[in-house]
Amino acid sequence: MKQFSLAEVARHAQRDDLYIIYQSQVYEVTNFLSEHPGGEDVILELAGKDATEAFDEVGHSEDAQNQLHELLIGSLDQQSSATLATKKKATTGTTKTTSVPFSPVTLGGLVIAAAAAVWVYTQKK
Ligand code: HEM
Repeated sequence: MKQFSLAEVARHAQRDDLYIIYQSQVYEVTNFLSEHPGGEDVILELAGKDATEAFDEVGHSEDAQNQLHELLIGSLDQQSSATLATKKKATTGTTKTTSVPFSPVTLGGLVIAAAAAVWVYTQKK
């Protein structure tokens, strides 16, 4: 089976020449793109890159896994899969930053609402 480097896979990131990585295997998804039940955009976003996490997060069916088999064209070379593995290690274990309860937009809206309330209040007097 053909071995690819990450850089090589990354060169196939166009709609008409499209590779994707899943669990260190390389898949050619050019013809599958328009058939994907989840749409083209999600795959195009990961074109030429590692889609393992995204694919698993969706909770794809066994059917989807089988479809994957048919698209297999090769695997990553050892160094490339090692690179992905270290990248993964680096992201696991980092605690997710807790999100701010109010987004800047919400906060801005609140400030304007408060100012309007004060204004209405002062006009009454
Ligand atoms: C190239 C490999 C892929 C194959 C063969 C594949 C296949 C499929 C299949 C067969 C389904 C129908 C539901 C199911 O059987 O689970 C599906 C749904 C879906 N896929 Fe993929 N998929 C691939 C990659 C991706 C990637 C990288 C994403 C990125 C997030 C993604 C996102 C989705 C979503 C969101 C749905 C749900 C669509 C819905 O239920 O409306 N897929 N995919």
